[in-house]
Amino acid sequence: MYRSHNCGELRKEHIGQEVALAGWVQRSRDLGGMTFIDLRDRYGISQLAFNVDQDEFLCTSARKLGREYVIQVKGTVIERESKNPQLPTGEVEVTVNDLVILNPSKTPPFTIENETDGGEELRMQYRYLDLRRTPLKNNLQLRHKLAIETRKYLDGLEFIEVETPVLLKSTPEGARDFLVPSRMHSGEFYALPQSPQTFKQLLMVAGYDRYFQIVKCFRDEDLRADRQPEFTQIDCEMTFVNREDVLRTFEGLVCHLFNELKGIQLPAFPRMTYADAMNYYGSDKPDTRFEMKFVDLSNLAKNNGFKVFDNSEWMGGICVTGAASYSRKDLDKLTDWVKRPQIGAQGLVYVKCNEDGTYKSSVDKFFSQEQLAKWATEFNAQPGDLILVLSGKKSTTQIQLGQLRLEMGSKLGLRNPNEYSPLWVVDFPLLELDEETQNYHAMHHPFTSPLEEDENKMESEPGEVRANAYDMVINGVELGGGSIRIFNKSLQSKMFDLLGFSKEEAEAQFGFLMNAFEYGAPPHGGIAFGLDRICALFGGTDSIRDYIAFPKNNAGRDVMIQSPSAIAPEQMIELGLRIEENDR
Ligand code: AMO
Repeated sequence: MYRSHNCGELRKEHIGQEVALAGWVQRSRDLGGMTFIDLRDRYGISQLAFNVDQDEFLCTSARKLGREYVIQVKGTVIERESKNPQLPTGEVEVTVNDLVILNPSKTPPFTIENETDGGEELRMQYRYLDLRRTPLKNNLQLRHKLAIETRKYLDGLEFIEVETPVLLKSTPEGARDFLVPSRMHSGEFYALPQSPQTFKQLLMVAGYDRYFQIVKCFRDEDLRADRQPEFTQIDCEMTFVNREDVLRTFEGLVCHLFNELKGIQLPAFPRMTYADAMNYYGSDKPDTRFEMKFVDLSNLAKNNGFKVFDNSEWMGGICVTGAASYSRKDLDKLTDWVKRPQIGAQGLVYVKCNEDGTYKSSVDKFFSQEQLAKWATEFNAQPGDLILVLSGKKSTTQIQLGQLRLEMGSKLGLRNPNEYSPLWVVDFPLLELDEETQNYHAMHHPFTSPLEEDENKMESEPGEVRANAYDMVINGVELGGGSIRIFNKSLQSKMFDLLGFSKEEAEAQFGFLMNAFEYGAPPHGGIAFGLDRICALFGGTDSIRDYIAFPKNNAGRDVMIQSPSAIAPEQMIELGLRIEENDR
């Protein structure tokens, strides 16, 4: 037996017991007569004590132990003289009478403690060492619990988990596919799933009624803090449901997770249309922990001789409570911030609502005090507030103002990670026009049904058709998205037409699904959540990487195993990716 207890387990009630522990040497302190070692395993840290007077040889051996040595000890649990209230095991220690070195360790390249001195790249390279640190262990523990509670909740509602294939054919979800060359079918490729979308729909056709899967998905897209090339979805689908049924079921899932993991009871999730989200927050995933809603100034501020406004399609602003005290320098900085290429605004107009009831603005030349007072009324601005205005093309300006709103929210400390503001964003447009190619793309995916009342506009005004699609958003993070699906062949064909597919292309790519729709496809709908994003939200951070055991870095590389990597020329030839020299 390697151990009788783990390193996080010993308490006062174990005093006097003979125990065996095994783990890693986190730290040792040599105090002359005594040597203390912190022994760590997944469960915690126990203090080991070696007394020179009791066993000099043992004490000398203990002094020689390096960091991260794997050892096994036997000894007696005693009460500590100086207790450590920070540690759950801090009231006791083990006086050791037997020590075995199970495996020595090289000096690790960074400190394996809560606070580490290792840089990001180095820690990624030695991920197995970084994973020994408590913050990462807690993150993976959190992920495990979220997955278990998800399974419990969905199992309780008769969902069954079904695995779908990983080697499949491309599904158009907007990102690029990762492709896998086939050896047996030279020149042909499998695609890794961007999501199991079509398969879950086929399971509904097959009559499985309620499906879920915690499943890896793969997307070859630009990476950000909340995006990884391989990530995990909680993918779900239900039969004989309308939008309300789906929203209720999955609001229930998220409430269950908050309740079980955080002891928080979330209120009913409000609904917001996509149009309102864009008009008031400049984002389809608004952070509603704070108000600071947009006010449209297009009517009030145009035609006053201020060219920038007169030439703009839209102008609007936000009112930042209590920020009239911003100095000229602060405002210059903010102006530079909105002009950065990442935001791309042309400039920033401000109006300070002074305490004495006057206004000081960057456009005083064009707008009188009375006019500025009217703006202030629109914003419901109080003395001491600061109004910030952007102008330009409506769609881009709203997005820029949305980013400025988030920045001001952060500056004012209004985005508390321990506060949760959930909502459903509904009624997304069905289609999105690509300005460059003038082609329509499906905003969600091509299997999403239009709202019944908009179906008649599909041919005449395709850009105006709203989708029966929904996203769950919490604190400005899109946690999940889904839709009620098209389930008849003719509507699905019409959708492919709108997306510019020829009959033959649609048949070649999605014939299997459209055929299935001819064999008694029931009405169905579903949703998929990003598990990594749920973890990050629960953990209170932005980066999903910290919740994935072995993630890729910003450049999509695994610097530990060095992937992606080149393959041998013979392998290229075998896969039909390269022609043999003598075949040329
Ligand atoms: P969607 O593309 O919206 O929908 O994806 C669902 C959820 O998956 C998460 N997600 C990601 N997480 C990390 N890294 C990524 N690269 C990444 N991409 C997406 C997000 C997102 O809300 N088949 C549809 C779902 C459906 O219609 O049922 C789909 O995949 O949290």
